[in-house]
Amino acid sequence: PTTLSVRGPGKPISSDLFGVFFEDINYAADGGLYAELIQNRSFDYSPIERTDWNALSFWEVVRRDGGEGNVALDLARPLHPNNPHYAVLEVGRVGGGVGLANAGFDGVPVEAAKTYRVSFFAMPLYLDHRWGGRQANDQTPPHRLIARLESKDGKPLGETTFEVTGSKWRRVTGQIEATDTDPDARFVLLSETQGGIALDVISLFPSDTFKGRVNGLRRDLAESIAGLHPRFVRFPGGCLVHGNGLPNMYRWKDTVGPIEQRRAQPNIWGYHQSVGLGYFEYFQFCEDIGAKPAPIVPAAVSCQNSAHTGGAGQDGLPMEEMPAYIQEIVDLVEWANGPPTSRWGAVRAAAGHPEPFGLEYLGVGNEDHITPEFEERFEMIDEALRERCPEITVIGTVGPFPDGTDWEEGWRIANRLRVPIVDEHYYRPPGWFLENAGRYDAFDRSRSKVYVGEYAAHDRDRQSTLRSALAEAAYMTQLERNGDVVVMASYAPLLAKNGHTQWRPDLVYFDNQAVYPTINYYVQKLFGANAGDKLLELDLTGETGLFTSAVLDSATGEVILKIVNPESDSRALRLDLTALPSPAKRAKVWTLVGDPDATNPTSAQEASPPVLEPKEATMAIADAAHLTAPAHSLTVLRFASE
Ligand code: AHR
Repeated sequence: PTTLSVRGPGKPISSDLFGVFFEDINYAADGGLYAELIQNRSFDYSPIERTDWNALSFWEVVRRDGGEGNVALDLARPLHPNNPHYAVLEVGRVGGGVGLANAGFDGVPVEAAKTYRVSFFAMPLYLDHRWGGRQANDQTPPHRLIARLESKDGKPLGETTFEVTGSKWRRVTGQIEATDTDPDARFVLLSETQGGIALDVISLFPSDTFKGRVNGLRRDLAESIAGLHPRFVRFPGGCLVHGNGLPNMYRWKDTVGPIEQRRAQPNIWGYHQSVGLGYFEYFQFCEDIGAKPAPIVPAAVSCQNSAHTGGAGQDGLPMEEMPAYIQEIVDLVEWANGPPTSRWGAVRAAAGHPEPFGLEYLGVGNEDHITPEFEERFEMIDEALRERCPEITVIGTVGPFPDGTDWEEGWRIANRLRVPIVDEHYYRPPGWFLENAGRYDAFDRSRSKVYVGEYAAHDRDRQSTLRSALAEAAYMTQLERNGDVVVMASYAPLLAKNGHTQWRPDLVYFDNQAVYPTINYYVQKLFGANAGDKLLELDLTGETGLFTSAVLDSATGEVILKIVNPESDSRALRLDLTALPSPAKRAKVWTLVGDPDATNPTSAQEASPPVLEPKEATMAIADAAHLTAPAHSLTVLRFASE
């Protein structure tokens, strides 16, 4: 049999190796991780996002039992310049009520006995069409509104009432206790007062967000990300970072502060970003799951694939705008790390987080072509960060996966500027991952460190098969073995909503009711939960074809061994553990094994194959010493001295 000998004491590797990549693609944010249940809450959807959309998309006027009235859009007295449109409900005859209904993102999922938080901004209006229409004054009578959850056939599922007075925008909040369950319900805001009322930022959240956060995240999705034990979270992308043309670059300042003051914008993936999940929420989520934030800012150039430039490629910010842009990035560091007494630290503190977030990593650019426009701007930003924010480690980029096999062109700027870390991306077939599972073994250690920021094995029909998951696992053993040079890695993309999936494969599929982890998810989870900070030597003698790594988790003193067998025959193994840093008594063993074509169900409707997930067992050390690595398997052993 093959003999595997594990030897201590081990050499240091990155303790931030395995993390996650979050991008708002496939409705991952609005309609996904961000728990807001109302779609187009601020009446700012536009035909720029989708030609069949407008500011009233996803809203419907409802008139009950003889009610007469209508809805209009207005721009005259916006809540904030970043949030221009609002709706005006004009009620001529109350009857059983006149209002607005919203069916959320593919229905509002309502669960009996759950509480929902309602909030909106309202301003009663006096309607006099002889004098130019809509006036707000203190004589306007109070306006009564009902917020209701109801089934599509009108069956009530819970409600609460409000009375709005005054002549200014006012934030109104309340709660609805759901009386019944309906996965496909809708929200109705019904006026019971004749006259007008201006409405904006009409919002509905389940109260059981992740960690109970206000303006929070959908609990099951956030838990599935936390379950990966990521050491970092990269956000907000991806191509979303550099955007569809310069005006569409993701600017962090537009995404912080009260939600009604944030600047929503079109998403490069063809829909709307409310930015309700903005920089504050990303940083808070990182803190909640014990991961380091790894934000990526645009390198002052747009995506080379921007439709905006008519295929002409990258656009660069004009040079005269660069000083202000660089200041914006420096301000981000102050917002994250500065004391509450600093200008931007005060903005963070006002949002409820006086303590600094402790930002260490900052990505500049995403997969940009390394053109002269890019190089010039990247160099200016990099230089400013080195001088003004020495606590920050800059992550640069080496562009998209090269068409040939030569990465050197992409690495040119990294070599010249000695960028601390650079971001490499690969979306390749499973065979590529196996063939390149030695890529970093002979890597020049004097160059930049590597962040494998996006990778996924693309199998036939872009299915998330066990074959693809094992190819990634094999590759990840080399990332561990080379954890002195590869310091971070993240699978991409992370989330995809059924019915809105623009890119395959993804790590986790979901709908409004449930989360469907792929087999690849379990590979990431096993590596994330069993990461180490020291690499142990591993001798393999006899038959090979296996991919292996051994690490020590100094915090627990436990040694972890990972064995990937992508072949179609099993391997008998003898483990020589005599030289472990501390003697082991037993091992916890996880095995992920099956048909290489196996996939996990990605929706409730799919004729459900059984879910393939790791099997867990505990073994006495004598048994673990004689092990079989089954055909098509990943085995993870965690040795404990107790
Ligand atoms: O992960 C999907 C996309 O792939 C990312 O947005 C981009 O960086 C890459 O091309």
